[in-house]
Amino acid sequence: MTSLREAWEARARAWIAWVRKPGHDSYDRYHRDQFLPLLPPPGRRTLDVGCGEGRLTRHLASLGHRIAGVDASPTLIDAARELAPDMELHVASASKMPFDDASFDQVVSFMCLHDVDDLDGAVTEIARVLEPGGAACIAVVHPLNSAQERARSDEPRTSSSAFRALEGRGRSTRSTSPSW
Ligand SMILES: C[S@@+](CC[C@H](N)C(=O)[O-])C[C@H]1O[C@@H](n2cnc3c(N)ncnc32)[C@H](O)[C@@H]1O
Repeated sequence: MTSLREAWEARARAWIAWVRKPGHDSYDRYHRDQFLPLLPPPGRRTLDVGCGEGRLTRHLASLGHRIAGVDASPTLIDAARELAPDMELHVASASKMPFDDASFDQVVSFMCLHDVDDLDGAVTEIARVLEPGGAACIAVVHPLNSAQERARSDEPRTSSSAFRALEGRGRSTRSTSPSW
């Protein structure tokens, strides 16, 4: 069976074409602008987990974040490097990241955690690399978008499953739904 990680690598070029077509994706139309106000101001160091071809990563850098990005897809990381050659970018799984404990005071993960094979491992890693009191800001698709998956699975990939995993590791969480 194909893993989600392999599926993303196989579809990476189509994804790059999709997200780089101006105005085509909901990111430019509203998702980014709903997400950014949730973040604390730039601090010590910010990590973008599942950064893809780097659209949010570049935006956060332009806002003053000292940023690193990680994604499991080599093709997507190559594409991110083409537009931001000096950015710190890593090919790695969210469930095994190449950073020391407490390396970041902010972690963002935008529309990624519903797509990882090992959600529990990814959340454990986010908690590990985040300093105590740091902020993890996570956006996942609305449950309406994952209705098919919910029908198939006992453990749907909603924000609540990510939050339960974070809370299980002693992190406090807060949920918000965008209004549009
Ligand atoms: C919907 S895309 C979002 C990408 C980016 N955050 C954005 O908004 O453009 C989901 C991303 O999750 C990444 N991904 C899937 N499994 C992963 C894993 N185990 N570790 C890290 N990234 C993963 C995919 O390669 C893909 O870039």
